[in-house]
Order: sequence, then C-alpha cells, then structure tokens
Amino acid sequence: MFAFQLWREFKLSLAEIYALFPSAERVFESEQICILNKISKQDILDTAHKIGGTIKIIEVVSETDIQKCIVSQAIESEWKFHYGFSIFGNTKSPQTPFVKGGEWNLKKELLHIKKSLKKENISSRFVNKDFKNLSSAQIIWEKLVEKKTDFNIIFTPLLDKEGLGVVYLWKTIWIQDIESYSQRDWSKWRDMQVGMLPPKLSQMMINIASTNKFPSPSGGGVRGGGSIYDPFIWLWTVLIESLHMWNKRIYGSDLSDAMVSTSRENIQTFILLHLFALYLYRHLFPCSKAMLCHFTMFKQ
Ligand SMILES: C[S@@+](CC[C@H](N)C(=O)[O-])C[C@H]1O[C@@H](n2cnc3c(N)ncnc32)[C@H](O)[C@@H]1O
Repeated sequence: MFAFQLWREFKLSLAEIYALFPSAERVFESEQICILNKISKQDILDTAHKIGGTIKIIEVVSETDIQKCIVSQAIESEWKFHYGFSIFGNTKSPQTPFVKGGEWNLKKELLHIKKSLKKENISSRFVNKDFKNLSSAQIIWEKLVEKKTDFNIIFTPLLDKEGLGVVYLWKTIWIQDIESYSQRDWSKWRDMQVGMLPPKLSQMMINIASTNKFPSPSGGGVRGGGSIYDPFIWLWTVLIESLHMWNKRIYGSDLSDAMVSTSRENIQTFILLHLFALYLYRHLFPCSKAMLCHFTMFKQ
C-alpha cells in the first residue's frame, strides 16, 4: 500500500494520480494524503519523477508500534541514526489510537523514540526542527529517502473493528525533486508581467489529459512516446515538460508573433542544456525511445 502526499491544489493532484494509476484500489483520500492499494512499487518508482502534483510517496503498513519499527531498523544501521518523522491527519479525533481523550503529539513521540534508541545504545538524531513536520528541502538535504529514515504516521477517520481510527505508518520511498523544477523554471526567458505556468502544473495537465478514459490515439502523457500540441505556447512550459516525459513530437502555436520568437529562445536554451544528456542517452540506449523531437511551430 502507498500513500501520496498531495500538493496544495489537492483536487488536481488526485485527478493526476487517478489518471496515472486507474486500476489501483482507492483506500483513503483527504486534502493531504491519498492511499492506494494494488499498485506495484516498481510502477510507482518508474513513474514518480513525471508526476507533478505529489510531494512525496510513502510505503505504508498497518503496523502501529512505531517505537519497535524504528528501533529495529536503527539496530541495523552502521552510522549515527539520522531520521525524521511527520504526521498527517487529525490527531485530535476521539477515535485516535494511542491516546485516551488527549492529542497525539509529535514532540512527545520524537522524544520517546530518542529515549528508546538510547536504551539500545544507539546514537541518533532526529532532524525535525521545532518538532514540526519536515519540509521537502530538509528531507532532500539530509538524504533521508536514501537512508530510508523519513518516517510518517497517517491518522485516518476510517474505523477498525474495535472502533478505533485506522493508522498507517512507514517510510518515504520517493520525494519530488524541487531543485530540478526550479532549474527548469528559472532557465527560461520570462516576462514577469504576463506570468507563467509552473512546470509541475504543466506535467499535471499532460497527465490528466492522457487518461485511459480519454486515450489519445498518439499516446502522450506520462508513458511518453506521443504527440502533444499546445495552441497557446507562450513560454513553452507545457512542451518542455512533454519532452521531459519522452513524448516524441511536439507542436505549438500562438496568436502573438512575439510569443513565437520567445518560444524559439526557450527551446534553444532547453536544447543547449539537455543536448549532451540526450546524446549520452541515445548512445547508451540505442534501441530505446531516444528523444527524436520533431518540433513544429505554426503561426496563426
Ligand atoms: C498563459 S499563456 C499559456 C502558457 C503556455 N501554455 C506555457 O506552457 O507556458 C497564454 C498564451 O495564449 C496566447 N493566446 C491568447 N489568446 C489566443 C488565441 N485566441 N489564439 C492563440 N493564442 C492565444 C497568448 O499570446 C499567450 O502566449
């Protein structure tokens, strides 16, 4: 089972996830988190870097003995045990397990875990600042996904047989590469007055538009290999993201001549930045879907 932490525009994030994993079983959804079952970890990891609206993906278990889970992992750790812990959901609900009436508390839990680790003579450090949930930047900086030590607990309003709220626990397996998005964003020429479309929103639009429900005859979307046409090309965001998703043919047009020439500058920047990587890719994987981009610009 896997939990997806959603972007602030959570309805768009949900639409994208359901478009990408149409056959997964929906276990739970809220404004913060969506939990899916009957979905393969490999499929998730192969697709994750092309998902715009998910902040992190957590592999979950219905195990609630947090201390035991973390201590048993820490025992195997060769280095000082650095870890983080985040909570999702309503901790104040009367059905919340572990607390009788009160509120489940991250600070208390972090200190408990630290104490349990000390008891086992394990040197450890939690990276949460001010006992708050971790940000993406902290998780990336501390390399917690690679270390497999970003722990999460998700409280849901679902009830178990004893009438207690169902809780899911466990580790982050993937986190969105915020650095790569901002590089793609800021490498473009821009007009601050007109504004721009964020790359992750463009990815979401492409993914949502290529669902199984409305299949594109040419493929497209996250699975790549298709054709994408943007009739309002502006800063090329949608089309650059289409290339990132290995769609082979991209087409664009715009009412404004100025936008068409700006687009040329942006595609040139993109090609300069990525040409070497594309060259390597084509030589390393000569039989795979190398990016043979056919770029056509219409003028209206
Ligand atoms: C917000 S931008 C689109 C963002 C773009 N899709 C991207 O990926 O960066 C809107 C663009 O629509 C163009 N536009 C507005 N009305 C149009 C029309 N009737 N036909 C074609 N383009 C139009 C504008 O010139 C402008 O470049």
